[in-house]
Amino acid sequence: MTAFLDLAAARYSVRSFCPRAVEPEKLARVLSAARLAPTACNNQPQRIKVISAPTDLAKADECTPCRFGAPVVLLVCYDKTVCWRHPTNNALTSGAIDASIVTTHLMLAAQDAGLGSCWVMKFDVAKTAELFALPENFVPVAMLPIGYGAADAAPSDRHESRFEVEKILF
Ligand SMILES: Cc1cc2nc3c(=O)[nH]c(=O)nc-3n(C[C@H](O)[C@H](O)[C@H](O)COP(=O)(O)O)c2cc1C
Repeated sequence: MTAFLDLAAARYSVRSFCPRAVEPEKLARVLSAARLAPTACNNQPQRIKVISAPTDLAKADECTPCRFGAPVVLLVCYDKTVCWRHPTNNALTSGAIDASIVTTHLMLAAQDAGLGSCWVMKFDVAKTAELFALPENFVPVAMLPIGYGAADAAPSDRHESRFEVEKILF
């Protein structure tokens, strides 16, 4: 139990990566966490693009200012034809929730593998769909740059700023 909390406490948003490549076996281990994540009705709508080729990283830079030099970016999407749909509210689906749980798994698995990451929502969704030729039914939810933190990587002030548990209970 403490091992998990220690992992969660040690993770912070890395916003400066070194160019060192991520070992393929490490990346595979991180990606395996994406299939372990729970999804509504176990529909497993998560679809992940591994962006690591230099030309693709350049495309990612056109979509977001938040790659921070990472050698790998995981683009986490969901397939809107696969995710669970609420039976009486057709507009409500599990897609973004499923993809967010998957992204959380990836983020913590990266930490467990000794890698840094940063959840990125600040990206141009339309441009991402266009430049990476996403199928029409794929909805991008998060970009997750991952890699080894640079020597100057450090938690931001926000990382230390967390409410006490009493404040978030009601
Ligand atoms: C849904 C979500 C979206 C985020 N989007 C961005 C982003 O676009 N760019 C960025 O630099 N950080 C982004 N972050 C990171 C948060 O700013 C960060 O998690 C928060 O300030 C707490 O800091 P910590 O992760 O270092 O503990 C995002 C985090 C979450 C959960």
